[in-house]
Formats: sequence, structure tokens, C-alpha cells
Amino acid sequence: MEVKTSLLDNMIGVGDMVLIEPLSEDAFIENLKKRFDHNEIYTYIGSVVISMNPYKSLPIYTAEKVEEYRNRNFYELSPHIYALADESYRSLRDQDKDQCILITGESGAGKTEASKFVMSYVAAVCGKGQEVNKVKEQLLQSNPVLEAFGNAKTVRNDNSSRFGKYMDIEFDFKGDPLGGVISNYLLEKSRVVKQPRGERNFHIFYQLLSGASDDTLKKLKLDRDFSKYNYLSLDSATVNGLDDAGSFRTVRNAMQIVGFMEDEVQSILELVAAVLKLGNIEFKPESRCNGYDESRVKDKNDLKEMCELLGIDQSVLERAFSYRTVEAKMEKMSTTLNVAQAYYARDALAKNLYSRLFSWLVNRINESIKAQTKTHKKVMGVLDIYGFEIFEDNSFEQFIINYCNEKLQQIFIELTLREEQEEYVREGIEWTNIEYFNNAIICDLIENNKNGILAMLDEECLRPGTVTDETFLDKLNTVCAEHQHFESRQSKNSKFLTDHSLPHNCFRIQHYAGKVLYRVEGFVDKNNDLLYRDLSQAMYKAKHGLIKVLFPEGNPAKVNLKRPPTAGFQFKASVGTLMKNLLTKNPNYIRCIKPNDKKAAHIFTDSLVCHQVRYLGLMENVRVRRAGYAFRQAYEPCLERYKMLCKQTWPHWKGPARKGVEVLLTDLQVPAEEFAYGRSKIFIRNPRMLFSLEEKRRQCLENLATLIQKIYRGWKCRTHFLLMKKSQVVVAAWYRRFAQQKKYQNIRSSALVFQSFIRGWKARKLLRELKHKKRCEKAVSTISAYWHGTQARWELRRLKEEAQNKHAVSVIWAAWLGTKARKELRRLKHEARSKQAVSVIWACWQGTKARRELKRLKEEARRKHSVAVIWAYWLGLKVRREYRKFFRADAGKKIYAFTIQRIMQKYFLGLKKTMPSMSPVDKSWPARPYGFLDRTHQELRRIFHLWRCKKYRSQFTEEKKATYKEKLAASELFKDKKALYPSSVGQPFKGDYVEITKNPKYQKLNSFVEDKVLLADMVSKINRANGKGAPRVFLLTKKSLFLADLKTGQVKASVPLPDLSSVSVSTQNDGFFALKIKEGSTSAAKGDFLLSSDRLIEIITKLHCIGATSADKKQLKVDISDEFLVQFKQDKVCVKFIQGTPKNGNGVACKRKNNRLLEVSVPSP
Ligand SMILES: Nc1ncnc2c1ncn2[C@@H]1O[C@H](COP(=O)(O)OP(=O)(O)O)[C@@H](O)[C@H]1O
Ligand SMILES: [Mg+2]
Repeated sequence: MEVKTSLLDNMIGVGDMVLIEPLSEDAFIENLKKRFDHNEIYTYIGSVVISMNPYKSLPIYTAEKVEEYRNRNFYELSPHIYALADESYRSLRDQDKDQCILITGESGAGKTEASKFVMSYVAAVCGKGQEVNKVKEQLLQSNPVLEAFGNAKTVRNDNSSRFGKYMDIEFDFKGDPLGGVISNYLLEKSRVVKQPRGERNFHIFYQLLSGASDDTLKKLKLDRDFSKYNYLSLDSATVNGLDDAGSFRTVRNAMQIVGFMEDEVQSILELVAAVLKLGNIEFKPESRCNGYDESRVKDKNDLKEMCELLGIDQSVLERAFSYRTVEAKMEKMSTTLNVAQAYYARDALAKNLYSRLFSWLVNRINESIKAQTKTHKKVMGVLDIYGFEIFEDNSFEQFIINYCNEKLQQIFIELTLREEQEEYVREGIEWTNIEYFNNAIICDLIENNKNGILAMLDEECLRPGTVTDETFLDKLNTVCAEHQHFESRQSKNSKFLTDHSLPHNCFRIQHYAGKVLYRVEGFVDKNNDLLYRDLSQAMYKAKHGLIKVLFPEGNPAKVNLKRPPTAGFQFKASVGTLMKNLLTKNPNYIRCIKPNDKKAAHIFTDSLVCHQVRYLGLMENVRVRRAGYAFRQAYEPCLERYKMLCKQTWPHWKGPARKGVEVLLTDLQVPAEEFAYGRSKIFIRNPRMLFSLEEKRRQCLENLATLIQKIYRGWKCRTHFLLMKKSQVVVAAWYRRFAQQKKYQNIRSSALVFQSFIRGWKARKLLRELKHKKRCEKAVSTISAYWHGTQARWELRRLKEEAQNKHAVSVIWAAWLGTKARKELRRLKHEARSKQAVSVIWACWQGTKARRELKRLKEEARRKHSVAVIWAYWLGLKVRREYRKFFRADAGKKIYAFTIQRIMQKYFLGLKKTMPSMSPVDKSWPARPYGFLDRTHQELRRIFHLWRCKKYRSQFTEEKKATYKEKLAASELFKDKKALYPSSVGQPFKGDYVEITKNPKYQKLNSFVEDKVLLADMVSKINRANGKGAPRVFLLTKKSLFLADLKTGQVKASVPLPDLSSVSVSTQNDGFFALKIKEGSTSAAKGDFLLSSDRLIEIITKLHCIGATSADKKQLKVDISDEFLVQFKQDKVCVKFIQGTPKNGNGVACKRKNNRLLEVSVPSP
């Protein structure tokens, strides 16, 4: 890409009109045309941008263009709206100057498009980020919403804004957008009920009917067919290039982005539908007995549907279209409306409804895009307001619009000239004031509070009696007759009496941009903007939320007999505020020009452009700019650009830039009247002079280019040569090294061969010698081995012979001994057998004898026994016979009872002897002697046990009793509920484990505690942050519990027992317990305590038992669960117990898992 450094590079025509030569209107238009033909639509007049509407899309708004213009100086690149936006944004951001961008031009000249380009440029170059992007998106998306409701197709522009818009974009100190505020000016509401030929109503009506779903239309009681609605003109209902249905989707989407709720959108659409319905209500006359006609609604269907949509009582609205209540002081009168008045009322209602909806929309958007911070904001205002309008038939609207343009021109004159003048003064340049037409006099004609046209109109509107547009004109004719910019046929000024271009019902004003003829018809009505109170009250009564808000004056509680301010008055006030606002900001101008009336690309109608150039005062602008000096530039860039024209300044100038420029201009022999030295800038009077400088620069640049080329070529050749030379040295060095290396390797390998031969020969010789020596040694040893072998064999043979002899002797001896031994053995065996036979025979004989004796004894015993039995029987018989006479009939029973008694006696006496011990835990009990005593035996066992227990208890002291009570309570609380319990059963409950009374360390603590200490022990207080424990002394008295420092004994916390709500423990084998504090109690501020102690069972039992002795007998609740909540100051933390092997050792470990969870892992049993 070619890099430009000045707008003067590759210029088509002149980029800045100030440089135009000669300065004439023709040259001006010619320059515009030339640039327009080359698609250069932007041209500067100094810092003002002229924009020609190209009526075609040009590739000059791309992201690359944005980057190109970003952070570049205004005159650095060819003219562009981005250059202005960049300049303005940077001076806002870097110099903290609030900016306003004033976009003017007639309808269709491209103002709205320009404002969008400015906004999108600023959005692209300012900061980024999620929040910032949201703000940007909302600011940009407010456009489609406002365009749908405020724009319409006109003959001049298919998307003409029918309202004035001023938007303040607010930035923070970094230049990031924070939000914005939109102000709207005078919506052309007459368009709602009537559109000129070839024009349309506001876009939203067509968009809604084309784009809404069938379902939505059904809900809104609408029909897709445009022709069903009186308010929609038919001749241009569809416009080429406008996709109403697509736009409807865009608008809905934009509304969502801007922040409209779904029900708000629905309400808005209902209002739009209601306006369409309203247009269809028609009236017919009905004669009354007093001779007057009264209007009646013709077909009530539309009225009904509209009332249903807005939740209005149909009869109330119907009545408001037939009667009108007039209130004066205390009196109320009802008059009938004729058909014309009813139509007037209907249209007034439709216009008011729509324009108020529009204002509400603007406010609603403002609410969404409002900056959220209250910090200091930098502001960039963008004004896109209707341009000067001259139609064939000009009415109140044109009058108001043109008045607004007069005011803008005032600002233009004021600020442009003031700035120009101030610059000269600032730079110390001699300056004589320039004459220009000041339109303040026209502004005065319109807005003067005493006799201005607007004041006259208001006076006329407020005057009692018959007021018509004609009486207003009469008034103007008398009051303004002398004014040199006011013309009227009937005025006192006889000059116009015969002017036939001036009809009788018109007046003419000579605006700064030309003469405009205004027809007075409708002025009074439009200024009054009257809506019958009955209608506004009917609207206020509606059940529709939005309608109610739009008609606050309908509230009967706030009846205001004062007339509302007139349209003219309101407009004047809002324009006044706008002007004040603009004056506080640094202005930037974009003046839009329309090249033709056909909305076509490539057509440049000279006369049309000439007209606009005239009334926009562009020539004056150039003249003012040139009257002083046509061109100015700071010394540094000027010197930088032209320094090559002088030997002293080229290539570097060491001194100050101003001095350099002076040297340069002197060297170039520029005549002194052609320029002036300012404090920081050089001012060039004549564009020709600048061009000659440019020309010289161009030539110089060519020469310089040749010089640079020459030096570059020389440098290139020399570098190449040096490189070749250097390479050659390197190549030679490498070659030499290679050759030497090769030679050396040859010599080395020959030496090695030679060496190896010699070494081989020497080695072989040595080997031979060594082999010979070795053979000799081997022979000697073989011979001696043979000799030694022979000797050894001899000796062996001799020894063997000797051994064989010895062996034979010992064998013979052994055989003889064996024979002897066997003989002896045989003898001994025989002897033994004889002895054994004798003893067996003896034993058999003894046995036979014994058996015979036994048989005899048995016989004898049997005999004796039978004798005794017979004797006993005989005795029994004798006794029974003797005693039979003494027996009575019940003797059997008595004997039985006696026997039983005897048995019982024997049983009890026996039991007494076999009683178990007195220990209550002794489980032994004697066996039952008789089956029938089974139950008695068990009962006795029970009674005995109870008695034994009573005896055992009676030995207890009071203290011991209390201890056992606690143990019992502990059992009730924890048995089978907490795994720690069994281990506590064997431990006595000692109470004081730290010897609080004796330990001198705790003397102070002891004295601090008033009541008797019931329990004192060391506990750990668990820290919620890390789950670690800190040692504390835990003291429990009848009334309170205390936690004190272990080392110093200083009390850290004391809690009255009534403040405790409950205590939580786990089911596991751990000592963790949480003391929960009652909500709202005095101790609650500290939060709950999470403690841990080995003696948990004792502590909690004691706490629990104290409750039983307290006044209200309320025992502390004990929750046993593996998960409970603990309130630490502000937050609740869940303590959760899990079984598992803790990482460090086998103790209980408490660990903080997250903000809300402490996990205690207890080793599994
Ligand atoms: N810079 C531009 N590039 C392309 N088309 C443009 C440009 N400016 C304006 N237009 C065309 O001209 C039409 C009218 O422009 P607009 O900004 O609505 O005019 P104004 O707001 O001055 O009445 C636009 O709809 C668009 O088609
Ligand atoms: Mg516009």
C-alpha cells in the first residue's frame, strides 16, 4: 500500500478548498464535481468537512480504513469523515475537551449516514472489553429503533429522519464509552394522519404489517393488507430497496439489545396497532332537535377493537368523540361535536398518541444507555438535525426547522470566526476583523420575546375571542412590518403591495439561506397542539399501563386549567438549551451536500449543488479562512516536509524548528508578504505559494530519489564485491587445509605400515624363543613324572601284598568268633524258652483257682441278700399288720404334706448353705434340686439379687451417688449411639483435671470464676480457617462455661449456660463437639464453638445434667450426627465426619475442605 504523509499527495482537485485558485464559486463547484467524479466525496474547508452524498456504497468505510486514519493527523491523509472523527475523539480523550459534531445539510444529503459513520468509527477505535462492548452495542442499536419510529420515506429521501436528534456519548477518562443521552426535537407528527403524495407514513406501520407473525397480528387484531388502513397512503406503500419485513426483525432484535422487555415491546406494538385502528374510525352526522348536527361513530367495530387493545371503556371514548366538556373556573359545560370536529379530535388523538409514544421510546432508550457511574465524564455530542427546508408549500414545521437552522448558523459563525480569530491572536499574528453576514437579526425576528414571530403566535393562541390564522397574519403585519427580513403583502411596508409572488395568506422571511414563503394556514392549530380533555381523560382511564403513562394530564385528580405550553414555545426552549449545550463544546462541522434530486449515483446537478453551497455559506467560510492565511502548519512538520529545498536544512537541522523554517524561506527567496511567523506555526497567505513549494519539493524529491538510487546502487555493488572477496578467502583457506590434511594422512598411514612390519618380525622371533624354552621345560617334567610313577607303582605293589596278608588273618579270626557266638546264642535261647513255659503254666493254675473262689463268693452273697430281703418283707408285713389299726382315712394326705414340708425345709436349709456372694455382678446361683420348684427357684434368685443391690446401694455416699447418676446419664445419652462411649465407662468422672484450685498458674482464673468449678479440663478449640486445634482450659460451673488460655489462664470466652441451645457430636470415636449458641442471645455474636476433648462424654454429660438442676429444668439438647452445621461469626460451616485412615499417624484429623466444609476423618475402629 502506498503510504501517504499529506493530503497534498496524489490530490484530485484540491483536498482543502482553502487552497482553491482562483477563489470563485465556479472553481469551487468545479472542484467538488471533479472530486465527486473520482469518488472523492469528502473535501475540507480548513477543519470543516464537506460531504457529498454518493448514493452508492463506496469501499471507504472498511476496517482497514479505520486503521489507516487511526491516530493520524488531520491533514496527513486525504479528506475523510474518519479524519474528523479521529481528531475529535483524540482531543476529547487526550486534551479533555468536550466535543460536538454538527451535521447539517438538507434532507437526503447524508446527515444520518454521516452520524452513523462517526459513531461507528468512534466505537471501533475506543477501548474494548465485555462491558464497553455492551455499551457500544446498545448505543449503536438505538439507531434502528429510532429510525423505525421516526423515519419515513419522503420524496427526497427513502429513509428521511422526521425528527431532530442530538446524542451525547459519554466517555470515561480513558476514552471508553460509558453511555449516552439522546434528545429528540419536534417529530413531524402530522405525517401520522396524512402524508404528501409519493410519501409514506412512519416505517414502523409498514414493518409491523409485513414482518410480524400471523399470531402477533391476530393478537393485535390487525390485517396484513395495507389497504385496510386509512392512515397508510397506498401509492408508495412498498419502496424499492426497503425490506420492511427484514427491518421489522432488525428492529425487534435491536430493541432486545437496547434492553426492552418483551411486555414493553408488546405494549408498544399495541399502541401502533391502536393508531391504525383509530384511523379507521369514521363518523356520521345525526340531527338533533336544536338543529345542530352531532357526530356519531359509523361502524363501531374498529372502535371496539381499539378499546379492547388498550383496555379503554368503549362508551367513554365514544362519548369523547361526540361531546366536549369545557371547563372554566368552577363551571363545567358539555357541547356537542360535529362530524368535522370529531375527525379533528380523532386525528389529534392519533398524532398525540404517536408522538408521545416516540418521546417515551427516546426516554426508555435513555434509561437503558444511561452511564452507570457518576464520575466525571467526557462528552461527544452528535447532532443530526433536519436541514434547511424550502418547499413549494411551507408550513409551521418548515418555519420551526428553518428557525433551528438559523440558530445553528449562528453557532457556526460565532465559533468558526471566533476560533479563527483566536488562533491569530494566540499566534501573535496581526489581524483585522472580517466582515460577514451575521444572521442574529433573523433569529431575533423569530424568537424575540416581545415582538418575535413565535411570541406573536403564542399571544394569538392564548388570546380570548375568535382566533384564526388570518388574525395571526394581521398581527404579524402590524408588528413586524418594519423588519428588513420580513415580507408580507399586507404589511405597512408598501414595497410588497404589488408583489404578486407573495400571496395574501402568506408571509416571507429572508433567511440567511434564502427567502422562504410560509403559508399561515394551520399555524395556530399546530402551535396549539390541542387535544380535548375528554380524550386525554379517556386515555388516562385505560387499563393499558403504557397509555396511562402517556396521558398524565388526563388524571382527574390533577386537572390543570392552565393551557399546556405551545409547540413553538417548547421548541424554542429546547433549541435554546441545545445551543447553550453546544456552545460549551468544541465544534466539528460536517456539511452534507446532495448532488442531485433523483437519489442517483454519478449525477452532479451544478445548480442544485450551487444552491446548497450558497445557503450553507461555504464560500464565505472559505473566504473567512483565506482572509487571513490560507494555510498554516506547525514549524516542525513544515520543516520536515520542505527541508530538502535548502542546503542548510538538509538533511538535518540542529537548531529550533522555527529558525529552520526562517532559513529555508530566506534561502528560497519567498517574498515577505506571502507568509507570517506565528508563535508555533507558519502562516502561508497564498495557496499558489504553497503549490510552488510543493512543486519544488516534488522536483527535489525526484533528484533525491536519483541520488538515493545512485548511492544505493554503489553501495549494493560494493557490498557484493566485498562479499565475493570475503568468500574467496574463505574458500582458499578451506582448500589449503583440505590438501594438507590429505598429505599428512598419507605419511601417517605409511609410517604405521612400516612400524607394524617391524614389530611383527620382532614379535615372531620372541615367540619362537619362548616356544623352545617351554618345550624343554615340558620334556624335563615328563621324564621326572615317569620316574616317579615307576617308583610309586613299585611301592604300591609291595604295600598291597602286605595288606592282603593282614586281611586274611583277621577274616579267619572273625569267622571262628562268629561260630562261637552262634553256639552260645542257641544255648541261651533254649534256656529262656524253658523258664517262660514254667511261669505260664503257673499263671493258668492260679487263674483257675481264683475263678472257682469268685464263683463261690458270688453264690454266697446272693444267698445272704435274698435272706435279708425276705426278712425285710416279713418285718414290713409285720409292722403294717401291727400299725394298720392306728391309721386314719386322710393319713395319706398328711404324710404327703409332711413329706413336702420336710422337702422344702431341706431345700431352704440347703439353699442357705449354697448362697452366692453379695456382689451384684455375681451371676452364679445354685442348681435347682427338684423340678417342681423351678419357678420358686427363679423368683428367689430375682428377689435375692434385688436385695443384694439394695444393700449395695445403701453403702453409697452422696458424692458417689452423684457420680453414678452422671454415669447413668452418660449411658442414656451415648450408649449405642457414640463409638467413644464404651471407652469412657471405666473412667471415673473426676471433674477437675487441671487442679484449678492448686495450680498457681490458674489462681487468677480461679478467682475470676465465682461458682464452684464442676469441670476443668484441657480442650482444643478448632480454628475454622485450617481445622487446627488451639489448647484451651475449659471450665464449667453451674451457671456458665469458660474458655481460657492454657498458659496464662486468661479468660477468652465466657458463655452463660442458658445461652447454649444445643450441642452436636458425631457417632464416631472422636472427641469433637460443637457448642451451639442460641440466636439472639448475648453470646451469639461470637458464634458457636467447635471443641475437641478426650473427655467429651464427661463434659457433655455434665453440661446435660446441669440443665436438670437448673431453675427451668431445661436440659441441654444433644444431637448425635455425623454432619452438623456450626455458625462461625457470619457464616455457617458444615462439619462432616468420615471414617478412614488419616494421613498423619492414626489420630483424628480435621481438615478444611472449602469455605463451607470442615472434614474430620476418624480412624475406623
Ligand atoms: N456516505 C454514503 N455512502 C453511501 N450512501 C449514502 C451515503 N450518505 C448517504 N447515502 C445515501 O443517501 C440516503 C439518504 O441519506 P440520509 O443520511 O438518510 O440523509 P439525511 O439524513 O440527510 O436526510 C441514504 O439512505 C443512503 O442511501
Ligand atoms: Mg436523516
